[in-house]
Amino acid sequence: MSTTAKLVFPDGKETDLDVIVGTENEPAIDISSLRSKTGYVTLDTGYMNTGSTKSAITYLDGEAGILRYRGYSIEDLAEHSDFVETSYLLINGKLPTKDERATFSTQLTRHSLIHEDMHQFFAGYPPTSHPMAVLSAMVTSLSAYYPDSLDRNAPVELHITRLLSKVRTIAAFSYKKSIGQPLMYPKNSLRFCANFLHMMFAVPSEDYEVSPVLEKALNQLLILHADHEQNCSTSTVRMVGSSGANLYASIAAGILALWGPLHGGANQAVIEMLEEVKLSGGNFKGFLDDVKNKKDNRRLMGFGHRVYKNYDPRAKILKKMCDEVLVHLNVQDPLLDLAKGMEEIALKDDYFISKKLYPNVDFYSGILYRAMGIPTNMFTVMFALGRLPGWIAQWKEMVEDKDTKIGRPRQIYTGEKARPYVSQEQRG
Ligand code: ACO
Repeated sequence: MSTTAKLVFPDGKETDLDVIVGTENEPAIDISSLRSKTGYVTLDTGYMNTGSTKSAITYLDGEAGILRYRGYSIEDLAEHSDFVETSYLLINGKLPTKDERATFSTQLTRHSLIHEDMHQFFAGYPPTSHPMAVLSAMVTSLSAYYPDSLDRNAPVELHITRLLSKVRTIAAFSYKKSIGQPLMYPKNSLRFCANFLHMMFAVPSEDYEVSPVLEKALNQLLILHADHEQNCSTSTVRMVGSSGANLYASIAAGILALWGPLHGGANQAVIEMLEEVKLSGGNFKGFLDDVKNKKDNRRLMGFGHRVYKNYDPRAKILKKMCDEVLVHLNVQDPLLDLAKGMEEIALKDDYFISKKLYPNVDFYSGILYRAMGIPTNMFTVMFALGRLPGWIAQWKEMVEDKDTKIGRPRQIYTGEKARPYVSQEQRG
């Protein structure tokens, strides 16, 4: 294949642009010299077709429904790995040896507490606070407790472990606070996911045994969310980090980007949508008609994806998990039947077929979280907990890349041309 592409301009002038090809043969045109060579910029609203970076972390083929972290398929990782190992893989680029795994786990255990002074912050929020508001503010606050994170030349390894471990504690504490229960401190004898379940569901007055089914399901859920290349929140982490902002600030920005209902907030929106359909007597055909007619800009939440134009491989695994976990827990959730019914109809409907709209990761994850006893407004926090190693890996890759520049897109200005200032008297 030629290593350059030729661009011909309206006035007949031409320029050659470098073509680069990724490991999986994805070709790209390098336009970084376009403006300096020709005066032109490119316009790509919503970055539909713009590669913002080279990255060796996650490979995604949306047409074929493939997702791999560091070369390992999501199916293999969900079945054989656990969240701690997958986090290590994403951040360090390789699966850990036994010793590396043990050291990493010990560090995660050691850094699970948050500074006691931070407990007062939880008390300051009203009980109605959305836990994403609390989580993002708390993560930003961590940079105040670890000011050496502001030094761009200081080692980041300890901050990475701290963040991974403490976000889990903050998430569980914000839940406990919202329901008025005492905070449950992490228990060092428990594995990562079991410890989270303990902090969420244990109470001082009772013994709490972590269910192995729940622990396994949580590991799988978090693995499935752990990275997804240059999505909205990850691009935000990189963008904020590119200015030299510290790790905690960059990740807090990613948490906020994730909150929106078109991104990580969709898992909450799916359950709210299913509840609404259930309340209306389960009339999902009528609901789907409203979606197709774009009534009140309705969307089938949990369907569609910017990159997947085929079944999201994560949704496939989650659908199967839903069946298994709900049976294990002996939970009958009418929302699961509704979701399956809606999926079946949608996948046969011309509207969804022609637009290549398939279930995404959020369509079934909420049903699983519900079965595990996690309340709806915590779903996006769960997503953030899962996505954390991906954000960290992407931030680290960006910081270590000597070619990184501050993120600064161009624009096509469409406003007024230069005009003279009009005084208040003249304006009336
Ligand atoms: N329900 C109904 N119609 C849809 C849906 C949907 N879920 N998604 C897209 N469409 C339609 C749009 O109305 C549009 O139709 P048009 O061509 O007639 O105008 C067309 O499909 C293309 O939609 P866009 O919004 O342009 O596609 P985009 O790639 O920008 O959006 C997105 C992707 C935001 C995920 C979209 O599919 C959506 O809103 N889905 C529902 C929310 C959701 O589940 N988000 C989670 C995504 S996964 C994640 O972030 C973890």
